[in-house]
Amino acid sequence: MSKIRVFENFGELNEAAAEMFCEIGEEAIAQRGRFTVALAGGSTPRELYRLVSSDEYRNRIDWNKVFLFFGDERFVPLDHSDSNYQMTKENLLDRIEISPSNIFPWNTMAESETVAAEEYEKTLQNFFGESLPRFDLILLGIGTDGHTASLFPYTRALNETNRLTAANYVEKLDTTRLTFVYPLINNARQIAFLVSGDEKAPAIKAIIEGELDPDNFPAQAVFPKDGELTWFLDAASARLLIHKY
Ligand code: 6PG
Repeated sequence: MSKIRVFENFGELNEAAAEMFCEIGEEAIAQRGRFTVALAGGSTPRELYRLVSSDEYRNRIDWNKVFLFFGDERFVPLDHSDSNYQMTKENLLDRIEISPSNIFPWNTMAESETVAAEEYEKTLQNFFGESLPRFDLILLGIGTDGHTASLFPYTRALNETNRLTAANYVEKLDTTRLTFVYPLINNARQIAFLVSGDEKAPAIKAIIEGELDPDNFPAQAVFPKDGELTWFLDAASARLLIHKY
């Protein structure tokens, strides 16, 4: 099942997303004793991370029962300005009381991207104790080209069905990114896309109302097998949608 929620502005989008984050977290902890989350990278989620770690929301979550993973990462040192971990550290991790053992960064100092991806798959399977982990929540963004996590158009990781993670060479960036792949993403209980900005409108239009073409718009292949997908869009990113959601 999927929901599309359009908000007047980015502030309202983040308030709603923070409420969702806390509600999912409270329910996961109540039902299963823990809240497992895969965080999105890029710049859009910064505001959400700052909000859930603010005085207004921070105390709604028992952060020592929260376990944070990263849906994708760049193969750079964790203190590098391009690192998704670094962005999350600045906007979330340094603002909450959480044990370092609850945080699972990719090993971006591994001998290769492939080794880093293989190691992270083992980390996931060891933590969840199952070959196909089921996250309570996976947060994702969208690029202007329709990519999500580091699943970029026409890249090999789009076709990965037997692993949880991939080292994905992205020709247009001339770099290899580390990423979750569809089987892991689509096994989540809840998936939430956070999308803001005028420049994302064409991709949002194509993904949500366009022809099915997931090689070109990888986000189209994100759909939970047994869970819920929610799009958090601001008016600017939703402006080309025909239907009023
Ligand atoms: C990354 C993200 C990527 C991001 C989109 C949107 O590592 O960059 O995982 O998928 O979510 O590129 O990025 P912005 O939020 O910066 O627009």
